[in-house]
Amino acid sequence: MCGIIGYVGDRPCRDILFQGLRRLEYRGYDSAGMSIITDGRFGLLHSVGNLDNLEAILDDLDDTGTLGMAHTRWATHGRPSTENAHPHTDCSGRFAIVLNGIVENYLTLRAELQREGHVFTSETDAEVVAHLVERAYKGSLREAVADAYRRMEGHFTFCTIAVDEPDVIVGIRKETPLVVGLSDGESFVASAVPAFLAHTRSVVFPEDGEIVVVKREGVEILDLDGGAVERPVQQIDWDEETAEKGGFETFMLKEIHEQPAALADTLVERISPDGTVVLDGLGLSPEVIRELRRVVIVACGTAYYAGLAGRYALERWARLPVEVEVASEFRYRDPVIGPDCLCVAVSQSGETADTLAAMRLARQAGARVLAVTNTLGSQATREADGVLFTRAGLEIGVAATKTLVSQILAMLLLSLYVGELRGGLGTDRVREYTEELRRIPAQLSDYLEDGAAAHVEDVAARYASSSFFMCLGRDIGLPVALEGALKLKEISYIPTEAYPAGEMKHGPIALLEDGSPVLVVATDSHVYDKLVSNMQEVRARGARVIAVASEGNESLAEMVDEVLYVPRTDEMLMPLIAVVPLQLFAYYVAKRRGEKVDQPRNLAKTVTVE
Ligand code: F6R
Repeated sequence: MCGIIGYVGDRPCRDILFQGLRRLEYRGYDSAGMSIITDGRFGLLHSVGNLDNLEAILDDLDDTGTLGMAHTRWATHGRPSTENAHPHTDCSGRFAIVLNGIVENYLTLRAELQREGHVFTSETDAEVVAHLVERAYKGSLREAVADAYRRMEGHFTFCTIAVDEPDVIVGIRKETPLVVGLSDGESFVASAVPAFLAHTRSVVFPEDGEIVVVKREGVEILDLDGGAVERPVQQIDWDEETAEKGGFETFMLKEIHEQPAALADTLVERISPDGTVVLDGLGLSPEVIRELRRVVIVACGTAYYAGLAGRYALERWARLPVEVEVASEFRYRDPVIGPDCLCVAVSQSGETADTLAAMRLARQAGARVLAVTNTLGSQATREADGVLFTRAGLEIGVAATKTLVSQILAMLLLSLYVGELRGGLGTDRVREYTEELRRIPAQLSDYLEDGAAAHVEDVAARYASSSFFMCLGRDIGLPVALEGALKLKEISYIPTEAYPAGEMKHGPIALLEDGSPVLVVATDSHVYDKLVSNMQEVRARGARVIAVASEGNESLAEMVDEVLYVPRTDEMLMPLIAVVPLQLFAYYVAKRRGEKVDQPRNLAKTVTVE
C-alpha cells in the first residue's frame, strides 16, 4: 500500500504535494519522493524513511513548478532505499511514474525491456511502467499509458507525467484506489481523498481500466480506446479523520475489511500457473529443507497464534515435529536446538524485541532462521537467513487484524512448500490446496460485502454487557479461538478465557454459570463431532453458545444460541476466514461499550522493549 498525490494548477505545487503526502502517510512511510516539472525538466527528490526525511531536503527542489506528483512508499518489491523510492523515470528521463500496488508480471516485462536495451536503476516492479510508457510513447501520453496498462497484470494504480506534455497528469487504476479532485483552475489526483481535502471536496471516482487525463481546467475520463466516459462529480462531506479511514469509523474496521486484499497481495507470485507454491528468498535450499529434523516457531501475541496455526499445517503436510514458543519465554530457556532445526520468527513489525532476541539465540545455536514479516527493511529481515514477506500493507489499528490473516497465509504457503519438497504431500494435493487458497480472497470479500459486519454487530449487541467470555476451539480452530479471545481482551477489556474445547472439563468449565457467553469455532473439520459434544457440555451448564459455523450447516443452529456463518473452505485453510467474525464480534462489543478501539489502553503497536 503506497500513497500517491498529483497536482496541476497555477500555484507552485511543491508544498501542496508535500502536505498531501502527510495526509497519506498512514498508507506507508518507508521512503518517499516527488517530481515536479519546471522549465521543461523534471526536478526529482527521493528519501528513505518517513516524511520528515523528505521534508528535510524539500528545499533542494525548485518550488516554482505548478505540475507534479509525489509518493509515499510501503515497500513490496525491493527494500526501502532512494533507488527504489518513487517517482521512477525511464531511460530518456522524459517520463516519471508513481505506482501503488503490485505489477505481477514485472519480471517478464523487465526481462523483455532489458532485451530491448532499457536500463533499470531500481529493484521495483514499478520501474517497468516508466519503460513501458517510454517504449509506447508516440506523441500521446494517454495512448502510451493505455498501451502500458494493456501489458500489465496485477492490481495497481499508476500516474505519469511527461516533460513533453507539461500540462497533464495521466493516471489509471486496476483494483486499487484512484480519485480525482476538482477545483477552480486546479486539479488533483490521489490514492485517497484526504490528500487534497484541504483544497476541494468535489471528487470523481474513476473505475478500473479508465484513463484519467488531469488538467488545470478539469479531468477527462476515457476508456482504453480513447472513448469518453462520464463519471459524476461527487461532493464529499466527510471530515478529514473519516476520510483518512476511507469512510470507516475506525482504522481497525477498515483493516478488517482490507483482509481480502491483504490475502490476495500475499498470494501474488506465490502460486505458479501449475498450482505449486513458489517461495523465493527463504534462504533454504531444497536439500536443507529435506534434511531438517525440527521446526521451532517463535513469536509474540497475535503473531504467536499465526505460528500455532502454522504448526498444524507443517506437522500435517511436512511431517516435521514443530514447537511454537512465546519468544519472551524461549529466549530465557536453554532450548535444545541446532543446525538441523529451522527457526521461524513471525512478526508483522519485524522489530519486536523478544522475537528478535529469540531469533539471535536460535542463530547462535546453529539453526537456520526464517523471518515471516510485513515490514521490508525491518531488523528481523536483516538478521534472518531468509525472509517470507506478508503483504498486508500498513496496519494502524493497534489490534492486529489483516497482518494476522496474512501471517497465517504465509505459514500455510510455507507448509505446502516444505510439505511437497519433503514428500509429505503429493503435487495433486498441493494443487487442490492452492486452488482453494486462490478462492479465499474473493470468498472473504463477498462475505464482508454481504452484510457480515451488520449481522455480527447485531449479535454482539446482545452480549456487550457480559462480564466474561469463554472462547473454544479444537485442532486448527484453537488458534482462531485464542485470537478471538485476545481481540476481546485487547479492545473491550472484558476478561476472556480461551481453551482447547476438549480441555474444558478438566477445570475451566467451573467458570461457567447460567448465561455465560461461550464463543465456539465450530466450522467443519475432522473434529467437528467432538466439538459438538463439548458444546453440549457447556450448554448443559447453562452457558449460551455463539458458534462460528460453515455456511449450510443448518443443524447446528438448533443446538446453539447464535450462529455466525462463514463461507466454506478446506478445514486447514479455515482460520483465514473463521477469525473474521471473531474480530468483528470483539470490535462491536468494544464499540458498544464506548471503547477507543484503535488505541487500546496500555498497548503499543510495536513492542521494542522486552
Ligand atoms: C495483538 C497484537 C500483538 C502483536 C505482538 C507481536 O493484536 O497486535 O499481540 O501481535 O505484539 O507484534 P509483531 O507481530 O510486530 O512482532
